[in-house]
Amino acid sequence: MSAVTGLRTLSSQTLFKKGDVFVLFGELFGRGYANGLVNEARAAGMTIIGMTVGRREADGSLRPLNAEELATAEANLGGRIVNVPMMAGFDLDAPAGTPTVTALVNEMGLKTWQEDKLDWAHVNACRELGVARFKAAVAEAMTQLDALIPAGANVFFAHTMAGGLVKAKVFLAIANRIYKGRGDRFMSSRALLDSDLGKLNLMNFDEVTPNTFGHLIDGSAAIRARIEAAGQQVRYTAYGYHGTEILIGGEYTWQTYTNYTQGYAKKRLEDIARAAWEKGVKATVFNCPEIRTNSSDIFVGVELSLVPLLNAFKREGCGAWGEAQWAACQGLLQDGSPLAAILEQLDTYNQDPVMIGFRDFAAWPMDNTPALADRMIGTAESITAQHKDGKALITDHLSALVIEATGPLMFNEAAQPTGPVLWLSHDVIAKQLAKLHG
Ligand SMILES: NC(=O)c1ccc[n+]([C@@H]2O[C@H](COP(=O)([O-])OP(=O)(O)OC[C@H]3O[C@@H](n4cnc5c(N)ncnc54)[C@H](O)[C@@H]3O)[C@@H](O)[C@H]2O)c1
Repeated sequence: MSAVTGLRTLSSQTLFKKGDVFVLFGELFGRGYANGLVNEARAAGMTIIGMTVGRREADGSLRPLNAEELATAEANLGGRIVNVPMMAGFDLDAPAGTPTVTALVNEMGLKTWQEDKLDWAHVNACRELGVARFKAAVAEAMTQLDALIPAGANVFFAHTMAGGLVKAKVFLAIANRIYKGRGDRFMSSRALLDSDLGKLNLMNFDEVTPNTFGHLIDGSAAIRARIEAAGQQVRYTAYGYHGTEILIGGEYTWQTYTNYTQGYAKKRLEDIARAAWEKGVKATVFNCPEIRTNSSDIFVGVELSLVPLLNAFKREGCGAWGEAQWAACQGLLQDGSPLAAILEQLDTYNQDPVMIGFRDFAAWPMDNTPALADRMIGTAESITAQHKDGKALITDHLSALVIEATGPLMFNEAAQPTGPVLWLSHDVIAKQLAKLHG
């Protein structure tokens, strides 16, 4: 059973033009999804404005960017940055004189963390502080932003924030085993979620990934009112993840990376868009395909579902350009490792009963199992090993193409969006690339 509300056709709607304002809510990294939207905004002649999460001092305190960091970030973005630190999450916030939750997690033992307990009254006090700090930062940033948005402009807010892993040494060791371990190193994602440590992480994910979208929508209400009163429009987009339809056995089929611990937070992100939509705010979460970025590299195997995009290029008429992508990917593989054989290997993997067992849309996000980790991480290692250079992967090449396609897909659809939650699966990604290059 799948309830994917897929975007199926390319939209060529236009709304945004020179003089309108594009606001990136999150930082821009070289390989990140946001590049697709930023490129579209730039091509449309929009004024680009960015936000920053700020930087931490050695003592954990949060500060704005210094002059050098600000200049680098503005050059990278191609626009001005509102220099108010908007780090989300409460992992390093604590009432004066009390320990942060990160410090408390650091006291947990690698052998005892499943039984180690947290003082939830203290955790909630830290959470309240972190939320109040973030909301105050949004209020300050919106005041500064308001002054930068001229009368007569439409405004596009692009939310990109996600994360919230508590950066304590013991937890990073556990996360490594959950997301990268198999055999003796396997660790159960359910064991994590049932522990206080897991519950703390879920709370922090909620603050970083979905709740920031809510604070953005609420915090920009005055700007929205001003723009709409003058007859212009405001849009909000966010990047979601909730599995992707890819070609398996010749059919577009919904599948997912497991265990996507952040999935609960991504479902809340969808709920925030739906709630805003019901109030007449055009906010859309675009559920995007698995790609390799700074944020997803920890999830070994997440990239496997990306390779069958090559088959979608054939299905959706990418023509000579599609063939050139096949050749470029083949060129990254060692002699004696045909690309077609890798695609067959992945089709067999995707039709393995163990993998099919994880395609339960209603039960998403499911827990991992040793059999899943064995197949997924084993297949990922086998495919990586067939490359000439472990740092130049087929999935790097394809990730950049997916980012390129999501740019116009999201930018154009957001002009007149058809719903609060839309999936961008391999069908429409390939169709967009065919239009751009075919
Ligand atoms: N990579 C994937 O496979 C994939 C798939 C679907 C959706 N997404 C989503 O796309 C969006 C962009 O991610 P990406 O994969 O391009 O990686 P990325 O590392 O380029 O972007 C992560 C973003 O999160 C922000 N961020 C991280 N921690 C934060 C914190 N504590 N407070 C505030 N902001 C914080 C960063 O500034 C950055 O803007 C995310 O919402 C992500 O969940 C990614």
